[in-house]
Amino acid sequence: MTTPTRTIDLRSDTVTHPTPEMRRAMAEAEVGDDGWSDDPTVNRLEARAAELLGKEAAMFVASGTMGNLVSLLTHGTRGDEVIVGDESHILLHEVGGASALGGLVLRQVQTEANGTLDLDRVEAAIRTPGLGFPTTRLLCIENTHNRRSGRVIGPWYMSDAASLAGGFGLAVHLDGARIFNASIALDLPVAELVQDVDSLSFCLSKGLSCPIGSVVAGTSDFIQRARKIRRMVGGAMRQVGILAAAGLVALDTMVDRLKDDHDNARRLASGLSSLPGMRVDPEAVDTNIVVFAVVNRDAGTVADALENAGVRVSRMGGPMLRMVTHYGIEESDIDRTLEIAETVLTSRSSAL
Ligand SMILES: Cc1ncc(COP(=O)(O)O)c(C=O)c1O
Repeated sequence: MTTPTRTIDLRSDTVTHPTPEMRRAMAEAEVGDDGWSDDPTVNRLEARAAELLGKEAAMFVASGTMGNLVSLLTHGTRGDEVIVGDESHILLHEVGGASALGGLVLRQVQTEANGTLDLDRVEAAIRTPGLGFPTTRLLCIENTHNRRSGRVIGPWYMSDAASLAGGFGLAVHLDGARIFNASIALDLPVAELVQDVDSLSFCLSKGLSCPIGSVVAGTSDFIQRARKIRRMVGGAMRQVGILAAAGLVALDTMVDRLKDDHDNARRLASGLSSLPGMRVDPEAVDTNIVVFAVVNRDAGTVADALENAGVRVSRMGGPMLRMVTHYGIEESDIDRTLEIAETVLTSRSSAL
């Protein structure tokens, strides 16, 4: 009998499992009722995250989607306009929650290849005061950028964007689901990278490998108001220190190792770029996400063939596929993936 080979799951860094140390910390976590701010482990995680991010306060939430939703609803009110990238997660992958639940209007600006929004275009999208116009309230930036192959946006851009926004009375929210990947890639303390934004959310349950959870950070006043919105959307939890315990372990042990994921992603992109029928620029891979195009074949069929051969990838629409490296994916898995991809792409099967 042959031993079945393990599936290499590159669909997302959300497929990561908690580490043994996280599981131990979760089992032993001291808990209380977080609805009354009584959970000491949550309180410790929030204080630690705020300190790390250089913000006055922070709040644990169930997911990145909830973190963005609560932040947007805290910044704006029904009828207000929020500027987002046309390839942003907030616009494309969060079920339109800010509009559906908060009445906010999402105004799209083209996302550049490097994940930024051109600031002249942003300025042009800001409404002038006028009876017939909605009020532009907020600018959202995504760093690293999911659909732009995990591109990292540097501090110079964050600072320019914030000064443009501030000049027009807008706040800036950062969808920093993977901000620790950006900080590691730039070799900059995360606080320096987020110092110019008014609020941000980051995910514990992606490259940092926690089972559940994200954190929103900002001024004490912002977080106090955000706590009320979190409760409104059903996000106030009780003995949630069990989850926060994993978050504390993640911040202590899982940030520096993100560099391994970045090295693996670069190795993957460079290998893919030499295969026939793949279009990928390894130079554009800053962190752990490799978005690439399949040429002359149907991307869905290629994804299915990869899956049948033991490699799971995610579809990004049209010819685009995505592979994401993470905890649990080793260099040997990357080499195996490249072997499988080569076999699939050079197959003469009529299904391809
Ligand atoms: C950039 C970005 N923001 C927000 C989210 C949402 O996070 P969650 O899946 O925890 O809701 C994701 C998830 O992949 C993401 O990539």
